[in-house]
Amino acid sequence: MAPYVDDKTEIIKRRYNRTARFYDWMDRMINPRMRKEALSYANGKVLEVGVGTGKNLEFYPEGCQVTGIDFSPGMLAKAHQKLHLAKVPVDLIEMDVQNMSFEDETFDTVVATCVFCSVPDPVKGLQEVRRVCKPQGRVILLEHVRSENVILGALMDILNPMSLYMVGSNINRRTVENVQKAQIKPVEIQDNLGKILKLIIASPE
Ligand SMILES: C[S@@+](CC[C@H](N)C(=O)[O-])C[C@H]1O[C@@H](n2cnc3c(N)ncnc32)[C@H](O)[C@@H]1O
Repeated sequence: MAPYVDDKTEIIKRRYNRTARFYDWMDRMINPRMRKEALSYANGKVLEVGVGTGKNLEFYPEGCQVTGIDFSPGMLAKAHQKLHLAKVPVDLIEMDVQNMSFEDETFDTVVATCVFCSVPDPVKGLQEVRRVCKPQGRVILLEHVRSENVILGALMDILNPMSLYMVGSNINRRTVENVQKAQIKPVEIQDNLGKILKLIIASPE
């Protein structure tokens, strides 16, 4: 990986380690109903990238076997505390989505919720998602994106450095475009919160 990505990765990882203690209290972006709706599309061998403090774990439907990865040990420690809420088997592993150690075409479903706002090289991370997902599998992304509204989009650009510095998250990512750049094909996009929170159901083929 390019050295500047490595530096950025360390910086963002440190920010999440720092915010892990109060992340659940602070995070209000996705409500539980949206998480449940997104995860209703998951099946089989599931990879959740950027599993964070494990807020999705309780919503996986029966029949899923979940592997959750995150590069922040602080966030993963919190996720371990939620394992008892899951109705399905869950494994948690420290790993960077930009450079995963899984074989090609390992998973039936890959899930990410509010992750590609933080990944330093989102296209590289999404290319890795495509690589480890089976060709007939499904990619489920619930991500906040830059607003299409001219004024709100510009405001997000102005405020982005503050958000990036404080919590490690970019508020102006163009994630649908990044998904397409990684050769993942959106099959369905559902808009929430005035189009800034998108549920993207996509195919790696
Ligand atoms: C905004 S939090 C979202 C956590 C969780 N998905 C949720 O919905 O609450 C973003 C998470 O992505 C993780 N993350 C960011 N970049 C990553 C990377 N390159 N590899 C693995 N995890 C990453 C962060 O450590 C953090 O836990």
